Amino acid sequence: MKVMVVGGGGREHTIIKKLKENKTIETIYALPGNGGIAKDAVCVNIGAKDLDGAVNFAKENQIDFAVVAPDDPLVLGMVDRLEEIGVPCFGPNKNAAIIEGSKVFSKNLMKKYNIPTAQYEVFTEMDEALKYLETAPIPTVIKADGLALGKGVVIATTRDEAFDAVKSMMQDKVFGESGSQIVIEEFLTGPEVSVLAFTDGKTLVPMVSSMDHKRALDNDQGLNTGGMGTIAPNPYYTSDIAEVCMKEIFIPTIEAMKNEGRTFKGCLYFGLMLTEKGPKVIEYNCRFGDPETQVVLPLLKTDLFEIFKAVANETLADINVEFSDGSACCVVMASEGYPKAYESGFEIKVAPEFKGQLFVAGAKDVDGKMLTAGGRVLGVTETADTLEDAIKKAYQEVKNVSFDNAFYRKDIGQRALKAKEA
Ligand code: AMP
Ligand code: GLY
Repeated sequence: MKVMVVGGGGREHTIIKKLKENKTIETIYALPGNGGIAKDAVCVNIGAKDLDGAVNFAKENQIDFAVVAPDDPLVLGMVDRLEEIGVPCFGPNKNAAIIEGSKVFSKNLMKKYNIPTAQYEVFTEMDEALKYLETAPIPTVIKADGLALGKGVVIATTRDEAFDAVKSMMQDKVFGESGSQIVIEEFLTGPEVSVLAFTDGKTLVPMVSSMDHKRALDNDQGLNTGGMGTIAPNPYYTSDIAEVCMKEIFIPTIEAMKNEGRTFKGCLYFGLMLTEKGPKVIEYNCRFGDPETQVVLPLLKTDLFEIFKAVANETLADINVEFSDGSACCVVMASEGYPKAYESGFEIKVAPEFKGQLFVAGAKDVDGKMLTAGGRVLGVTETADTLEDAIKKAYQEVKNVSFDNAFYRKDIGQRALKAKEA
């Protein structure tokens, strides 16, 4: 079998390493991959958003199966294009990827089907949004409708910040057309949990829960990033809460999508907040999370490719998806300055005694050397029987990886450990 994986970050590296456990796969191609992925797959210089490029490559190389991992190609309809030429895919069609591609769509879906989420209003006119904000409760949350590189959400803690956020989205168009419609919603509080789920549109199998650490600095200080580390499972997500989520959120969501003629097949990501009034959906993503994948897949015991094929064939009910009872911790090593300006081009050195799992996000291969080429450079994952040991081991292994300008959070998992003690 020849498999292609679209994308080039730490999430894709994790997926590829897991797929390599399946012996029926002869070759894995990564489009475009990166300098670390190059050690595990054949990297092809085709960008993740290049639909024509991916289709031509699949045709010319007789690809048997495609995994489309990032949001952009999914929302643009890459799966539809590949299916048209007969390539089975893991990932939702364009009409289902809208669950992430449009916040207005997802909020209206939740309202229509009574799926718990923050109260909200939709605005297409800036003046009306500004007028609404004159009396809206503060803090308030302002979201651009479309994809915005993960930056389209502003939590405004003053009225002026709220006005500025609306103006920058609707007047200055900082997110382009993504800001031509906006959602203004109620500010919720509570622990956040990420739950990724496999679904073929009929059956839904939640994966082990996880916790992201989005801020750049220790103690959740500093700017929002794409994620500085993760742990799994998330101790806030008890089996009672999981049961409520399954009944009130997960199953109603796939049923709602089916009912709308938008059957969702692939990985559906539920960003949840555990509020005093119960779990609520903060966001849906139409794909695996990054860096959640880096802790979730290392705990998966079942063959990932078998699951991917079952999702594509709509036979997920026949597969027994199992996770280990252990825990995982991923510490992201980034370039100093990230998420703002940073320098790249430094050699990444991995000591021979390194025993962890290395998932590379931003690196290029130059004459056999890995050089840093991104804000988030790599993630180091370790698994263990307990969360405490997984954290300890991950930080030990981080010491075996080095590059100039490296920085990482020292407290990944500490909040989770405290929650366990409480
Ligand atoms: P992003 O990953 O950039 O979409 O940011 C989403 C983050 O904004 C979430 O992880 C939450 O921390 C926060 N957020 C989004 N919506 C709300 C809300 N209604 N109330 C409180 N925090 C929110
Ligand atoms: N870690 C959050 C995301 O993948 O969107």
